[in-house]
Amino acid sequence: MAGQTDHALRGNYDNIRADYTVDQDWAAYTAAEHDLWKRLYARQSALLPAYACDEFLDSLSTLNFSAGIPKFADINPKLKAATEWQIVAVPGLLPDDVFFTHLANRRFPVTVWLRTPEEFDYIVEPDIFHDFFGHVPLLFNHTFADYLEAYGKGGVKAKGLNALDYLARLYWYTVEFGLIETPQGLRTYGAGILSSGGELPYCIESKKSNRIRFDLLRVMQSKYKIDTFQETYFAIKSFKQLFDATAPDFTPYYDELRARPELAANEVIASDQLL
Ligand code: PHE
Ligand code: CO
Repeated sequence: MAGQTDHALRGNYDNIRADYTVDQDWAAYTAAEHDLWKRLYARQSALLPAYACDEFLDSLSTLNFSAGIPKFADINPKLKAATEWQIVAVPGLLPDDVFFTHLANRRFPVTVWLRTPEEFDYIVEPDIFHDFFGHVPLLFNHTFADYLEAYGKGGVKAKGLNALDYLARLYWYTVEFGLIETPQGLRTYGAGILSSGGELPYCIESKKSNRIRFDLLRVMQSKYKIDTFQETYFAIKSFKQLFDATAPDFTPYYDELRARPELAANEVIASDQLL
């Protein structure tokens, strides 16, 4: 998850390289941490078949990280062969430009530390469970992997155009909290949902939240909440739709967005196609 926080960052940034990467130091994880990973994995796996998209489910079952905290060095050759992506270890959240540059070069930053047992149900900052379990399986999907690279390049560009808030909303409502229409009904591909015990059922079933067909400018107009379940989810029809919709130059879109009002996280407008 990329995002802003208003508190001090939790990871250890003392030994970072220039690109904010660190060594994973897999041998340092304790037996209790591997056990906590296994419990998180088991809880999510039981919920996934009803709520996750097939692309995520298929990839996760092929990879099978159920045995304990994964070693990045084990997964990277497989990922390289599949989509030319790599995972890099980082201490936690990154400055926007550093994060975008990794994505633009097909490197996905994964936080090295695991939450505490008290944070089993809820964690404020992304940890290794969120980053790895939630994000890595879809890096094996070609179209999604290409979208994420394009997003990174678009981030570098948006920074120069002072449009980062708009682009951050796109990440939030797709990569983190996106839904997808499938023949079996609505499913999720969003890592923030896939790694959350509570939000997996909630995003599909809650009567309190809106589920709206994806519309690129509508998404970038919409604010979001970082400390509650989402009030609105946007559903794509396919990763190809997402890739194609985001392929054009965003410069005129940003001009258009500056002329439009911002929408609150729970707002519904006349043009919305509710699902
Ligand atoms: N096409 C966008 C631009 O020109 C870049 C982008 C691609 C942004 C994919 C997000 C996702 O700015
Ligand atoms: Co994330």
